[in-house]
Amino acid sequence: MSKAALGMAAAAGLPAWLRAAQGAAQGATNQNGMNTVGADSLRTHAAAHGLLCGAAVVPNLLDVDGFAAGTTSDAYTRLVAEQANIVVAENSMKWAALRPTATTFDFTQADRLIRFAELAGQRVRGHNLCWHESVPAWLQTTATKENAKQLLVNHIQTVAGRYRGRIHSWDVVNEAVNPKDGRGDGLRNSLWMELLGPEYLEIAYTTAAQADPEAKLTYNEYGIELDTPEDTAKRAYVLMLLRRFKARGVPIHAVGIQSHLQASGPQPGAGLVAFIREARAMGLEAYITELDVNTHKLPGGPELQDAAVAEVYKNYLGLVLAEPNVLAALTWGATSAHSWINQSKEPWAKRADGSRQRPLPFDDDLRPTPAFYAFRSAIDTEKPLAAQPIGPPTTPAAKPQDLYKPFAVPGSPTAPAKPQGAS
Ligand code: XIL
Repeated sequence: MSKAALGMAAAAGLPAWLRAAQGAAQGATNQNGMNTVGADSLRTHAAAHGLLCGAAVVPNLLDVDGFAAGTTSDAYTRLVAEQANIVVAENSMKWAALRPTATTFDFTQADRLIRFAELAGQRVRGHNLCWHESVPAWLQTTATKENAKQLLVNHIQTVAGRYRGRIHSWDVVNEAVNPKDGRGDGLRNSLWMELLGPEYLEIAYTTAAQADPEAKLTYNEYGIELDTPEDTAKRAYVLMLLRRFKARGVPIHAVGIQSHLQASGPQPGAGLVAFIREARAMGLEAYITELDVNTHKLPGGPELQDAAVAEVYKNYLGLVLAEPNVLAALTWGATSAHSWINQSKEPWAKRADGSRQRPLPFDDDLRPTPAFYAFRSAIDTEKPLAAQPIGPPTTPAAKPQDLYKPFAVPGSPTAPAKPQGAS
C-alpha cells in the first residue's frame, strides 16, 4: 500500500473526539493567530500522508484523568494529543525508571503513557529494552556472567510482555555500535557486552519477538546521519550489524535514526539516503526517532536560531521522508520547555550567550516555531511509496568472511568448531 493510501486508512481511523475537534477547528486559529490545530496540526497532515508523527513525552506531566474526562485545560496535554499520532516515553520505559530493585518493577509512569495514548488514539514506541545507559546501580553491582542472561531475558519478557500487542515498535537495543571502542565488529563495550559478548544482541531480539510478536523490533542509533568520516564509518558498522541479524534470522524489522542534529556544520546527505535504501533492500522500515536541532554553536538571537533550525528541519525531513520505508518521525521532546538540550549541563547543550535553545516545533511557551511549519510542509511534500524505486546498494562492500560473519552462539550449527586440543 502507498503511504498516501495508508494515510487515508489512518485518517478514517481517527478517534471520534479528534474528528470532532478537527471539524470545530477548521479555519480556527490558536492563541497566537496561527493555524496549527485541528486540520492544521502535524497529526492531521501526517495521518493524511500515512506517516506516524510525534514526540517523546514525560508521562507524569500529562493530565490523563482530565483528558479521559474531556475536561483538561492543561496546555501540554492538549498539545501532545493534538499534534502526535505516535508517542514515546522520554525516560519512563528505561531500565532505571522501571527497575527500582532487582526483584521489582514500577510501571506507574509507563502505564500512564499507554493509557493516555490509547485514549488519544495514538501509537506508542517502546524505548528501550537494552542500553549501556540508564543502568540501575543494583544491576551494575549484581550482574555477573552467570546471571546476566537471565536478568536481560526476564526484564524483556516482563516489560514487552506486559504491553504485548500495544506497542508499535520497540527499540530493543539502543546504541550498541561505537567504533571508538576499537573492537573489530564496531560494537560498543557495554555492561551487556562485557557479561554476555555480542550474543546479548541476539538474546534481546529473540526474547522481544517472543514477548510481543506484533511489535516492530527496532535497532536505534545516533551519530549515523552525516557524511563525515566518523558518521560514515559508524553507519557502515550499523549496516554490518543489521546484515548479521538478517544472516542469522534474528527478528529485526526497523532501524531507528535518532537524528540529534546540529544547526551549524555539516548536514545529512547522500550517505544517509543510501543507508535508508540499504535498510529497505533488507526489508527494514526506518524511523526518525529523536529529532532535534542543536544551536549551541550558532551566534545570534532567537530569530536566527529559529530560522536555522527550521532550515535543518526542511532539508532533513525533505531528504528522509522522500524514502518510502521511512514511516515515522518523532522529535525528542514536544516543546523546548521539555527538551533534554535545555535541561543538560553538558558543553554540547550550552550557548555562549546563555540563552535557551529552540530545537523543536514548539517553544517554551508552547507556541509553534518556524520548525513546526517546516515539519508540516515536509510531511505534505513527502512522496508515495509507488514512486520510489529501490536503488542498488551504494555503500562499499565489506569483507564478507570477516564483517558479515554471524554471531558465534555456542551450540549453533554456524559456531566455529573448536580446534583440536583446545580447552
Ligand atoms: C535522554 C533523555 O532525554 C534525558 O532526560 C536523560 O537524562 C538521558 O537520556 N539517546 C537516547 C535517549 O536514546 O534515550 C536519550 O534520552 C537521548 C539520546
